[in-house]
Amino acid sequence: MEVLCVLSWRVAPLLLLLPCASKSLNLRVLNEGPVHVIPGSNLLLRARIESTPGDKLSMVTWEREAETGSTPNRLVLATCQGSGPSPCTGTRPNVLANVNVGEEESTLQISGYVPEDGGDYIVTVTHQNGNQTSARCIVREYEAVHHVSVSINMSHSLLVCGEAWGTDPHFSWLYNRVAVTQTVGQVSQDGTTLRITQSPICGRFTCMVQNQLGYATATYTAAECETEEEHSGAIAAVVCVLLLLVCGALLGLLFWWRYRRSGHARERLREHVDEQLH
Ligand SMILES: *[C@@H]1O[C@H](CO)[C@@H](O)[C@H](O)[C@H]1NC(C)=O
Repeated sequence: MEVLCVLSWRVAPLLLLLPCASKSLNLRVLNEGPVHVIPGSNLLLRARIESTPGDKLSMVTWEREAETGSTPNRLVLATCQGSGPSPCTGTRPNVLANVNVGEEESTLQISGYVPEDGGDYIVTVTHQNGNQTSARCIVREYEAVHHVSVSINMSHSLLVCGEAWGTDPHFSWLYNRVAVTQTVGQVSQDGTTLRITQSPICGRFTCMVQNQLGYATATYTAAECETEEEHSGAIAAVVCVLLLLVCGALLGLLFWWRYRRSGHARERLREHVDEQLH
């Protein structure tokens, strides 16, 4: 116990000194990037500014530059200077920025997001001595699910589902329009692959890809399944055909027999008439 106390006494002042000794400012965007925004909705970015007491900040700026392209063209969105109830000024009507020194936070809100609002967002804090610290966050449009496709890997009984560029796609599988069961197959962890355990493979396998904007599907249709009903139906049909053939044969025989009998009768009649004539 005593050892611990002594240790903490020796370590504590060191720990307390650490933030003071390094006069750096800790700045980070709290949103996990890339942030995907549905067009028409609002984008809200939050930055945490952790500064040491006595470290005076003179300005916070929010800017944006294109995510790709050789010449980064920075556009100032908002500048926050000084104090007061509204220390920030936005450069556009749909931009609203705020700085809350007490909560060590600065926010940037863009209402009615349009795809052109995408890019690399940069928040910069300027110290009174002129030093600057920046943090970035990539913002992109939230895109609908596109081009779902299913391909089959025959040798491994695998169905693989693909999707082009939708944001945050979630995969699920249906068999003949209901969720797949263990008797049909096993879905991989990420949902993109269905290992078929059913044998022989038959029926309709559908991959459904969903995100916040909706869903799209693709279907692989295997051979038609032979159900019990269809099986007995086929047997019944064969029996019917056989019966018809037998009936036909019997009828044919009957006609042939009658024809022969009437032939005999006619012959006998002719003989009879001949006898009488002679
Ligand atoms: C089928 O799947 C196996 C295992 O995942 C893989 O090694 C093989 O290359 C695939 N075949 C084709 C034609 O994609």
